[in-house]
Parts: sequence; C-alpha cells; structure tokens
Amino acid sequence: MSVRVAKKYVIYICLPVLFIFFIYHFYSPCSVTSNNSVMIAAQRYILGQDAKKYVYNRSMPLIFIGGMPRSGTTLLRVMLDAHPGIRCGEETRVIPRLLTLKQQWLKSPIESKRLQEAGISGDVLDNAVASFILEIIARHGKPAPRLCNKDPFTLRSAVYLHALFPKAKFILLIRDGRAVVHSIISRKVSITGFDLNDYRQCLTKWSAAMSAMYSQCLSLGSSICMPVHYEQLVLQPKPYMENILKFLDVPWNDSVLHHEQLVDKPGGISISKLERSSDQVIKPINLEALSKWVGQIPEDVVRDMANIAPMLATLGYDPNANPPDYGKPDSFVLKNTDFIKQNERLWAAKEQELQKQRELLRKSALKNKSQTNDANKAEKVEEKDLDT
Ligand code: A3P
Repeated sequence: MSVRVAKKYVIYICLPVLFIFFIYHFYSPCSVTSNNSVMIAAQRYILGQDAKKYVYNRSMPLIFIGGMPRSGTTLLRVMLDAHPGIRCGEETRVIPRLLTLKQQWLKSPIESKRLQEAGISGDVLDNAVASFILEIIARHGKPAPRLCNKDPFTLRSAVYLHALFPKAKFILLIRDGRAVVHSIISRKVSITGFDLNDYRQCLTKWSAAMSAMYSQCLSLGSSICMPVHYEQLVLQPKPYMENILKFLDVPWNDSVLHHEQLVDKPGGISISKLERSSDQVIKPINLEALSKWVGQIPEDVVRDMANIAPMLATLGYDPNANPPDYGKPDSFVLKNTDFIKQNERLWAAKEQELQKQRELLRKSALKNKSQTNDANKAEKVEEKDLDT
C-alpha cells in the first residue's frame, strides 16, 4: 500500500471513529463506563457589563443578612450594596419560602418516605435546594465579586444554609423588640402569625422568633455569624461598618456610609417599590426611629415586659427601662438627623411618592388578578402578598 493510500485510509476511516468515540466519551450527560458515574452541572457564570465572566458556585463566600423584619435589615443591605465589591439586591421572597417548604417535606414522615422511595435522597434534595438558591441570588441582580442575600427569615435556617454553602457568612440584625413590634403595628406590616392589634402577642412572637434565629447564629460561631445591633449601627455607623466589613473580609470603602447617594439611582442601588422599608432607606443613616416606640405600648404590657419577651434581656435590652440607654451617637449621624429634620417636607414628599407608587403597583396587580378571579379571592391574595 502506498503512503498516499495509507493517509487516505487514516483520514476517511480512523478519524470519524475517533471523533465518535470522543463525542460519546466526553459529552454524554452521564458516563457509562463505571457504576459510580454521576451527573455534573456545567460551570455557571454571568457575563458582566465589563465583559468579565463572573463564575458562581456553592463554594463562594455568599453573605446572608437576616433577622426579624423591621430590625434594620434593609438599611444594612443597602449600606453593603453601596460597596463597589458587593451586590445584595431586593428581597427575593422565594428563598425563605423554599427553605420552609423543604423543612415541611422532611418533617412529614410519610412525605420523607415517599421521597426516599423515589430516589430523592437528602443529598439530591440539598443539591437541588442549593442550586435554586444560588441561581436566584446570582441572577436577580448585577454580577459582583461578593454576592449577598437579604430575606429576613432565612436566618431561621442559618445552620442548614451553612451546610449548603460552607464559605457563606451570616449577619443577624438585632433590634429592641419593643421598637420592632411598634414598627410592625404602627406601619401595619403584616407578618404571618402576628396579630397587628395585640402588642402582647406580637412581643411574645418576636421573642420566640429571635430566640430561634439567635441560637442558630450562636451555634455557627462568631467567625461565621455576626449579630449586629440596629441601635449601635445607627448610633456609630463607621466603627460598626468597619467591624462588619472586617468580618466579611471586604476592604473598607467610604461609600458604605453614603448609601442614600446611590439608592434608586441609575446604575446605583436597586430597591423594590413594593418593599415597605424602601420609604426609609432613601434617607441617610439617621436616629429618627430609635425611640419612637416609647409611650406607645399599653401599660399592662410594659409592666409584664420581662416575662412577655425574655429575649429582650438575653440580647442586652433592659426590659424595665423605657427607653434603655442605647448609647451615644457620633457627630456624623447627628448631622444626618438634623439635615432630615431641616428638610422634613422634602423627605415626607419623597416618602409619599414612593407610597403612592406602591399603592398603584398593588392596585394594578390586584386588578389583573380580579379579571381572572372574583374580588374576594383577589383580596386574599393581597393579604398574603403583603406578608413579609
Ligand atoms: P421603623 O419602622 O421603626 O421606622 P427592615 O428593613 O428590617 O424592615 O427595618 C425597617 C426599619 O429600619 C425602620 O424602622 C426604618 O426606620 C429603619 N431604617 C431604614 N432606613 C434607615 C435609615 N436610613 N436610618 C436609620 N434607620 C433606618
């Protein structure tokens, strides 16, 4: 056989065979060469505006911010969002719901058995839950070197989240329960299980919720979960943000003290018009909300405070002081607070504008809904949609 014939033989016969072998071996979704084969997800990434690939995976150092709603969780997330290396974004709402759903599946013995029988082991389920959470966090906003999530109730599952994302860090917002409950009741923020007409019941619920989240945080340890007191954050923002950034291994950047310059601005910090706290985070960090609750809680509840809300004392708030001494403000926040007072009308107009937009959005959502459902059903949806 001449050399030319031999070459032809290689090109026409051997190469296609090699090609088919290559495709089959490397691109088939699951290798069939061994019984230990596994399915592996492709590497996931987002292409940034800078044309850089931002890869995301379970071993990235995600940041989770949580706590009882009305504890300053949105304020902290916009302060972190102001950092050029961090992106948090709006509440996703679906992440805490999925975590609750997953817990319910495991709590029910019959459902657990059904899942086992179907080959859905704990490992399969955990991978699926982690992928869902990761996908939502990574893709609901712009890419950034550090991604962060703020859905208040996720901190109830901090230990589980840490098992899913071993390099994640957690921040638990803590605020005087009397202020939290006053905020919930006076602003009519509906939260499942909280009776907005009953201070006593709400304080009991606050205490139970905080007890659960605080114990999750403690069991993770101080290098993984950091409790942050709202009062200290607003009184002394600079040293507190320095501590927080150190805890997160993120270099200091002054912009974290000036979030209001970026909130709701093009290319700046994105806020949802439907989130109740958006009206307040448009302002610079200030002291307006510290002691608004004083004198607003029924006498008999104030008298029984230590028994109703034992977590007050555990978290360092004197249940018998109305208000307790929260500490001294620095000159920066005093200046901000004065600035807000001097321009009261301007800020009130901004707040009203946001409230108006929220109302319009809600009404139009309900209108769409009531075109398909009857009015009663739409009302129920509205109630649920408002739940934090
Ligand atoms: P009040 O309702 O008592 O005013 P969350 O975002 O966790 O729901 O917390 C809401 C609370 O954070 C609100 O409490 C609000 O005033 C406070 N907050 C939001 N922005 C703030 C700011 N710029 N400075 C100080 N507190 C702020």
